[in-house]
Order: sequence, then structure tokens, then C-alpha cells
Amino acid sequence: MNTKEKFIVIANWKANPDSFLLAKKNFDFIQKKISKFKKVSVVICPPIIFLQSIKKISKKVLVGVQDLFIEPNGPFTGRVGYESIASLKPSFSIIGHSELRNNDSLENISKKMNIALDIGSRPVLCVGEEKRDEKLNYLSTIKEQIETAFKNIPKNLVKDVLIAYEPVWAIGKNAERDATPEEIREIVIFIRRVVGDLYATKSIPPLKILYGGSVNMKNISYIKKDSGVDGVLVGSASLNQKDFYEMIKLVENI
Ligand code: PGA
Repeated sequence: MNTKEKFIVIANWKANPDSFLLAKKNFDFIQKKISKFKKVSVVICPPIIFLQSIKKISKKVLVGVQDLFIEPNGPFTGRVGYESIASLKPSFSIIGHSELRNNDSLENISKKMNIALDIGSRPVLCVGEEKRDEKLNYLSTIKEQIETAFKNIPKNLVKDVLIAYEPVWAIGKNAERDATPEEIREIVIFIRRVVGDLYATKSIPPLKILYGGSVNMKNISYIKKDSGVDGVLVGSASLNQKDFYEMIKLVENI
């Protein structure tokens, strides 16, 4: 599927749902409902235990992983080596999600970016500050996250990378408030500049920039229209399939 010009909607199911039957039912529901959609590309990242079976039924909806482990295989109890993940061919890999950041050094995130590209999976790098501050420290946080993650990425692969701006203060149940389109737009421009500087290029780097943080039915339209993003990363609002379908329909019809 060509995701080039399409608005990308990625669902991060996190540790949901409880059973494979429900995961399959939900995936099938979305896949059937959007079968004729043309302007939106939908990706679902299920829990890893469901990945293989979901991948088998995936046609119109693409499949991604929620994280990668930095070792290919070996004595790492409870982990899933990236070679096993590679055999499942996930189209996308979420990397550096804030819910995992405490266990993940910037160095590891950089390794995971290259692992994803090596196994043919497009990295979705999550960046974002814990808090906004008057002194604009949040910009240096984001800059550092990007610079480390891109450290070993050659210029010709930048087009395969997606960056999701996910301010921690706007994510999940403890979200303080929604980010405004202006706040998102500022960071979209900033991210393009940081990546442009890294590769010393004056033209706009061809990477896709997404927004994530309490994206829902009420705000998805104006996020698409007014914030300059190429897509969204949706957590909790992707768990109710009827609502999630309505969200996708809204962006398909803009
Ligand atoms: P949320 O999650 O949509 O529930 O805020 C987004 C995310 O954690 O990626």
C-alpha cells in the first residue's frame, strides 16, 4: 500500500484487548469498514502476543510493533529478540514511547531505529517533553531526542522514518489538556528544522511527522486541518472500534 500521500492513522493498542478473539474481531471490523477508503492509511499495533496471527489477516490495515528489543536473540528471559520480530515483517515499529522511556536510554533508542530499518520496518520515533516551560527547555529536550535517535541513520533512509510528537502532558488518562494546533504546528516546524540541520539540507526533509496525545473524535479533524501533521498516533481512543472507525472516517472525508 502506498502511504506516501495518505494521512496516517496509527493505533497503539498497548496491553489491550484481553483476548486474541477480541483483537481479531476488532481488527477485522476496522479492516472491513475502511476497505474503500483512499485518503487514509491505517496501522494497528497490537500486543506482541497477537502480532503473528493479526499479521496473517492483515490486508488493507497494516500492522506494527509497539517496541523492539535491542538483541537479536539469546539468553534474555521474557524478551522477544528482534530476529523473531523480523520474521513477522511488521510494517512499522514504535520506538521510544514515553511509557517505556524510563527503561530505555537514548542510546538504546538510537540502536532500535537502526534495527527497525535493517529489518524493513519503518520506525515511528516518539519524542516529546514532560512539561512545557517558559524558558523553552522543551525544545532542547526534543532536539536531543531526535539528534541521538538519528545518529546513525544515513540520509537516504530519512524518508522511511516517522516522528510522532507526543507531549507527555497530553497523553493518556493523566493528560492535563489537549495540545492546541498552534503548539503542534510549532513543533512540526521545529522537528523539520532539527532534522534538516542534521543532514545539512535546505530542502524540507521528506520524513512524516505525526501527533499523539489524547487524539479523539472531537479533536482529530482540527489536528488534521490546522496543525500541519501527516498523521496521528492514537492510544485509548483506538480501543473502541466504532469510535475509532468514526475518527478514520472523519479524516478520510476532509
Ligand atoms: P492516548 O495515547 O491517545 O491515550 O493519549 C497516546 C500514546 O500513548 O501514544
